[in-house]
Amino acid sequence: MSNHDKKVNKEHHDKAGDGSQKAHFCLTRRELLKAGTATVAVAAVSSSTMLSARELPDTPPPAMSDLKMKVNGEIRQLNVDTRTTLLDALREHLHLTGTKKGCDHGQCGACTVIVDGRRINSCLTLAVMHQDAEVTTIEGLGTPENLHPMQAAFVKHDGYQCGYCTPGQICSSVAVLKEIEMGIPSHVTLDLVSPPPLTPDEIRERMSGNICRCGAYSNILAAIEDVAGRKES
Ligand code: FES
Ligand code: FES
Repeated sequence: MSNHDKKVNKEHHDKAGDGSQKAHFCLTRRELLKAGTATVAVAAVSSSTMLSARELPDTPPPAMSDLKMKVNGEIRQLNVDTRTTLLDALREHLHLTGTKKGCDHGQCGACTVIVDGRRINSCLTLAVMHQDAEVTTIEGLGTPENLHPMQAAFVKHDGYQCGYCTPGQICSSVAVLKEIEMGIPSHVTLDLVSPPPLTPDEIRERMSGNICRCGAYSNILAAIEDVAGRKES
């Protein structure tokens, strides 16, 4: 450090208050790291001591429940922890991994399945709430050899890229066309008396619960319009 730098440094310390006291609290980086490690070690020891000293209450066993559902046309019997979501029952118990878990919070739509004719987010519902329900997942819509028209349209219009949102998008699309056919209005339906029109705005609004981070939205819309018969195929 040059004499000029030392002078500037001293002036700075003196301006900030008592320069000698400040110097006393100065730590090197190495000293600071050592102090941090010691603090963590002390905290870990005291928390483990507290845990062992504490009387832990008995944890009750999970409540299990028998469950019967018709999944993709097949009766399936399950015995599940009552806290199991429908999504986990499908994926972990029935090994139908086509239904995806994107968020587990009802925010992405990747887990969309059709239950008793209505699309739902399977991550937001407990399996035990669906005794005797009819559940359709992407595996039940079509097969690689015999695609559902919506699956074929997604392929034709490039309605996906990574494919992770696609099962939810396709289940939703199938249900959306059904909803419009049944006259169920959406948030953007202006005329609540006449049947809802099959416009791009209606489809976009109804599909807005299915997120695609690959940005395939315009192609998804084209696929749905194709199936709806509004576009030349
Ligand atoms: S996983 Fe169900 S909405 Fe995202
Ligand atoms: S295709 Fe990748 S998230 Fe939709």
